[in-house]
Amino acid sequence: MFSNASQEICLLVSAGLAGIIAVPLFLRSRRLDAIPTVGSTNSWWSAIKNLKGTSGIIQEGYNKYKNAPFKIPTLYNWIVIVSGTKLLDEVRAAPDDQLSAVEGTNDFFKIAFIMGHRVANDPYHFAIIKMQLNRKLATLCPIIEDEISATLSEMFSSQDDEWRPVVVLTTIRKVVSRAGNRIFVGLPLCRDPGWLEFGLQYAVDSIVSAAKIDLFPRFVWPLIANFFTCTGNHVGQAVEFLGPTIRERQNIVDRARSGEVDDFLQWLMNNGSESTEREITQRILAMVFASIHATASSLMRAVYDLAAHPEYIVPLREEVDAVVRQDGWTKAAIDKMYKIDSFLKESHRLGGASSLVMIRKVSKDFTFSDGRIIPRGCYIAAPSCAIHHDEELYDKPDAFDPFRFVRLRGDGNDMKQQMVSLSSDFLAFGHGKHACPGRFAAVVIQKLMLARIVSSYDLKLDDGAPASCKTVEFGIFINPDPTTTILLRKRSSV
Ligand code: HEM
Repeated sequence: MFSNASQEICLLVSAGLAGIIAVPLFLRSRRLDAIPTVGSTNSWWSAIKNLKGTSGIIQEGYNKYKNAPFKIPTLYNWIVIVSGTKLLDEVRAAPDDQLSAVEGTNDFFKIAFIMGHRVANDPYHFAIIKMQLNRKLATLCPIIEDEISATLSEMFSSQDDEWRPVVVLTTIRKVVSRAGNRIFVGLPLCRDPGWLEFGLQYAVDSIVSAAKIDLFPRFVWPLIANFFTCTGNHVGQAVEFLGPTIRERQNIVDRARSGEVDDFLQWLMNNGSESTEREITQRILAMVFASIHATASSLMRAVYDLAAHPEYIVPLREEVDAVVRQDGWTKAAIDKMYKIDSFLKESHRLGGASSLVMIRKVSKDFTFSDGRIIPRGCYIAAPSCAIHHDEELYDKPDAFDPFRFVRLRGDGNDMKQQMVSLSSDFLAFGHGKHACPGRFAAVVIQKLMLARIVSSYDLKLDDGAPASCKTVEFGIFINPDPTTTILLRKRSSV
């Protein structure tokens, strides 16, 4: 992700700074003595190693201390990792002013420096996701489906009945980005190649900038953030794309308010909390950041899994044909795609995008019911990948069993098995009141896309390709290898 030279400089500077501030970190660690540490006894060296990926060390901690807290160091802090329904329920029940999800996210993604202080301090767009987007999903389904079909038809012509290699992430990102932007900013901007490319690059740049800032102690973030971020430039460039649409809508208020224009941009404008082009644009960028990358990466793994297991294409296709014949491409049909849902959930269970979720900043000392105290300033999080591979929670946890959640349905258990359902055993979207509010839209996009793919295409892996998608780890993030290819051809009968 970093260039080698800048990576080395950053690591050296941060190593020096870490040394300087090692004393307060040590004092805080004394207050955490009751919580075992996983990894090297030298927490500073462990933290450096954790930059390269944390899934191994977290799995090791989970194997030793399942259902009890353990801790790992970051360069300047500690993350206390908890699992098991009891402890996770205690985290869920804690008030926001004690365990803060917003501050946890702000710190990990450096939201204030990348998206601006207003976005970080007043995330009112979360409520718009819940109150508007989620309630309008039934109306939006045919629109999303239209965008997915249009994008796929443009990318793969009807002559594509020969097998051809496709770079999975690039392809999926294009479709997800257009579908997401159809909801966020509507036509015609959602089809503007410049805007789409900008949005994808913005998400990547933001993650890289956050990772660079993270190499420095918190008190210097405001001083060094400017060197690693291009927030001003990004917003300026984005305003060039969005500005004309915002101005046009501000001028035709009645048309927009009448509901003729119904997308996230309009809901933001109707909300009225912010009114300038820059402010509204920054909110849209925050949505692009939160949604496109996560949705595309997790869908990419499912598409790869399908190419690796083409024997599941026919049963999925039969399910899609049956429900669409009955209900069309509607929300009702999507809700009945149990196999598609289970396939996506299983793929996410085995893949996962992050080794930790439910990241909470401890704003006031927090005491678990067994008396263990987590001091103010640390983070608490849940080990999603380790939990998803636990043999006490999942039968043959390392096997790809795409219809396992279909089999678990029944006995009034159907809702619980859905991909969007939250539990302490399935943490793709976090848990509790701060769980991902965009998960309903994300799953609708993913289900529609997978359904469209199985309806219209055959997939397989090239000879010698690995059975599961290669990944690239960085810190707590686990990304699919962006160069991964599969073979695809259009079905001759469609
Ligand atoms: C498959 C795709 C996605 C995955 C895996 C995902 C995952 C997550 C996770 C793990 C969290 C943290 C939850 C917690 O702390 O308990 C989160 C938060 C969030 N997600 Fe998603 N997400 C996805 C798609 C989306 C989409 C499409 C949107 C927007 C439409 C979105 C908007 C958000 C927002 C605003 C938050 C912060 C919520 C809060 O702190 O209250 N996400 N997401």
